[in-house]
Amino acid sequence: MRTVYFDNAATTQIRDEVIDRMTEVMKINFGNPSSTHNYGRQSKSIIESCRKSVALHFNVSASEIVFTSGGTEADNLVLRSAVRDLGVEEIITTKIEHHAILHTIDELEKEFPILVKYVNLESDGHIDYSHLEQLLDSEKKKLVSLMHVNNEIGNKLDISRVASLCKQNNALFHSDTVQSVGHYQLDLEAIPIDFLAASAHKFHGPKGVGFAFVRKNSGIKGSIFGGAQERGYRAGTEAIHNIVGLDEALKLSYENLNTERSYILGIKDYFITQLREVLPDVVFNGSCSSPENSTYTLINVCLPIVPEKAAMLQFQLDLKGIACSKGSACQSGSSQNSHVLAEILNEANLQKPSVRFSFSTFNTKAEVDYTIGVLKEFV
Ligand SMILES: Cc1ncc(COP(=O)(O)O)c(C=O)c1O
Repeated sequence: MRTVYFDNAATTQIRDEVIDRMTEVMKINFGNPSSTHNYGRQSKSIIESCRKSVALHFNVSASEIVFTSGGTEADNLVLRSAVRDLGVEEIITTKIEHHAILHTIDELEKEFPILVKYVNLESDGHIDYSHLEQLLDSEKKKLVSLMHVNNEIGNKLDISRVASLCKQNNALFHSDTVQSVGHYQLDLEAIPIDFLAASAHKFHGPKGVGFAFVRKNSGIKGSIFGGAQERGYRAGTEAIHNIVGLDEALKLSYENLNTERSYILGIKDYFITQLREVLPDVVFNGSCSSPENSTYTLINVCLPIVPEKAAMLQFQLDLKGIACSKGSACQSGSSQNSHVLAEILNEANLQKPSVRFSFSTFNTKAEVDYTIGVLKEFV
């Protein structure tokens, strides 16, 4: 059966070079990085050299990179410690953040007397900057948590503008950059951001590893206790093969950034054009059809398909070997599946099926043609 993988925002294929480097480390460098003998010292030195090279991509120092089990843990580390250790009293965020942020905040609200404020969204899902400014105008100790690229609709935040606003208003700024690290260059010396979260499996690295950037002297402390690994931010023997995989994947992403970006953008643009031809009434959710305001890696489309056929859409795509993500659960008559679309779509569009197609350098225009062919059957 033909298969097409258009679900790269969920996870990506690991690059061969990454697997090779991970395999080598698993075979040879199995020493515990905390051991003081030769095997341990070698492992430790590999981890520290990965930390240095990761830090270099962001123009920060190695001591500001904390390896974690992924984006979720990095988000948890920052949010939890900001409230518990830094005395944050107000968190400013949006209702369309990833659950790694929203559910962590829900838990913090139960445990600490914090106030959570949600920035208003424009109809295309972008934040209302003047409302953010209004929310920032408070004497309380504040943390702003806004994602750089939205994983469902691809909207891109003006991260420098938000960072400057936070700085001016004495607020800490954390950004979930899980969908942008490896796809966009971030110079953290130029952007006055305090924290960010990243995850290797979104940029052709392994699952189960990511990192938090924690600005020097921020006062953040860890939440996992035990050994002194990761300078006490995160106890537990390091997954050295995963860290090496992250490092290699990030290196390759940034080495090939320009070529891959224009290639992937070509796929996205082609998809948009073809889709408009077969389904002229298609709605591009958020601002995913705008090259300036959205990531080049995905589209999220609301398809003008009659309800009788809509129920079969996801099933048919899967049957034809096309992997993509359901944007909303109109098939079951519920909009609850996507908290993001529930915030930005009108009632009529919420009743229609929305699908996210997300792309990588491993996709081809022929795969777009095949997918369009399958979607055509629904016209
Ligand atoms: C925006 C965003 N934040 C956080 C995460 C969670 O990352 P991880 O899977 O590494 O825990 C994801 C993954 O889906 C994501 O897209």
